[in-house]
Amino acid sequence: MDPSSPIQLVKGFKDILPGESELWQYIERTAISLFEDFGFREIRIPIMEKTELFARGIGEVTDIVEKEMYTFSDRGGDMLTLRPEATASICRSYIQHKMAAQDPVRKFYTIGPMFRRERPQKGRYRQFYQIDAEVLGIAGPHADSELILLAHTLFQRLAVTDTVCRLNSLGCPVCRPKFKAALSALLDSAASSLCPDCLRRKDKNPLRVLDCKAAGCRAAMEDAPMIIDFLCDECRCHFEAVTDTLSQLNVPFEIDKHLVRGLDYYTRTAFEIQTHALGAQSAVAGGGRYDGLVEVLGGPPTPAIGFAVGFDRLAEIVGATTVIPARPVDLFIAALGDTARRLAFEWSMTLKLAGITTEMIVDDKSLKAQMKQANRLGANQVLIMGEAELADGTVVLRDMATKAQRDIPVEAVLTTVTDLFSGIRNKTCV
Ligand code: HAM
Repeated sequence: MDPSSPIQLVKGFKDILPGESELWQYIERTAISLFEDFGFREIRIPIMEKTELFARGIGEVTDIVEKEMYTFSDRGGDMLTLRPEATASICRSYIQHKMAAQDPVRKFYTIGPMFRRERPQKGRYRQFYQIDAEVLGIAGPHADSELILLAHTLFQRLAVTDTVCRLNSLGCPVCRPKFKAALSALLDSAASSLCPDCLRRKDKNPLRVLDCKAAGCRAAMEDAPMIIDFLCDECRCHFEAVTDTLSQLNVPFEIDKHLVRGLDYYTRTAFEIQTHALGAQSAVAGGGRYDGLVEVLGGPPTPAIGFAVGFDRLAEIVGATTVIPARPVDLFIAALGDTARRLAFEWSMTLKLAGITTEMIVDDKSLKAQMKQANRLGANQVLIMGEAELADGTVVLRDMATKAQRDIPVEAVLTTVTDLFSGIRNKTCV
């Protein structure tokens, strides 16, 4: 490769540029405000963890752990992994900081990048972002419906109205073995149609076969038993209570008996929120209950439930109909001559510190070039100051919308501009 050629970013990774980042911030603000209304608090977890955390938490025989993790041994020989999701890390933190001892019920949210080495395509990246919410310490079904309501409301607030919540129950360690046995019997009889991955998985983790996209496996699974038909009494009551309270809350959902999730930790409620806006990559959020995970990771028995929204996918949908403008430039100072530029620089710093977005060109440029730049930036007002104006003790303030100009005494510039923008801000706040 030519050593002077520009370096491109890593395949499946992407930049979020100014113009898009305003939309991302808007979505983040909407999510955070909603999470806080529901009593969630932010947790920030590291981007890298010991590989074992995900292997144990997500499951050794899953696509994520077998094929997709960015795992490497660091210079000290430790096996580390860039986090493919946030749930296992949040549980690790809950255990490590002995949170259960002070108050076992915790509601967390976190927003940040995750890493999975999947085949990149529209809506699927190798570094992608999730908006993640987790409730630890509550076993009852109300936590499930509250969380699903929360996810549903987030989409509503962002004007994404065509979402469908697909819901299933994945049972628990009491009822799942019976289901697994029935599934394994079918898999044995259909072994010749299974893909090599599923042939290998059918004994270790038969549930994963239900998830496989290969045509042979799909056909073999058409008559597969459904876990919902195997639920024990407790899981069935739990599921009925979730659907009942969701109906009570007017949260639309569809029971999807085929829904299984790609991570092994789920128990009972599992759900995905889908939209037509994305084509094939239609799941914009996924989650469920994971009552055994904290214990699997070495903590006390702790029921839990959570979900993660695919931020990139959500931003694509919201961005198709919503434009969040960048913050406009309040004032542009067009200064001509060294003395004027020196004073303009001082004023522009003072005004920025006072919260008024102020721009200028510090180089020697014609008034025409400076006005062009003010226009390009969409400045609300332009202050025009040359040596002659300064000698007179006045400068010119031009309203770029009305084109009206007025003379301002030099000593009154800062207060006039500050008053003007506090007036404009107060008006826009009403
Ligand atoms: P997940 O279904 O693997 O669940 O991911 C949640 C969402 O992240 C997906 O519905 C999708 O929108 C987005 N997503 C996943 N992979 C990609 C990708 N490669 N590119 C773009 N977006 C992607 C989890 O991660 C669980 N930790 C959710 C959870 C939280 N369960 C309980 N608590």
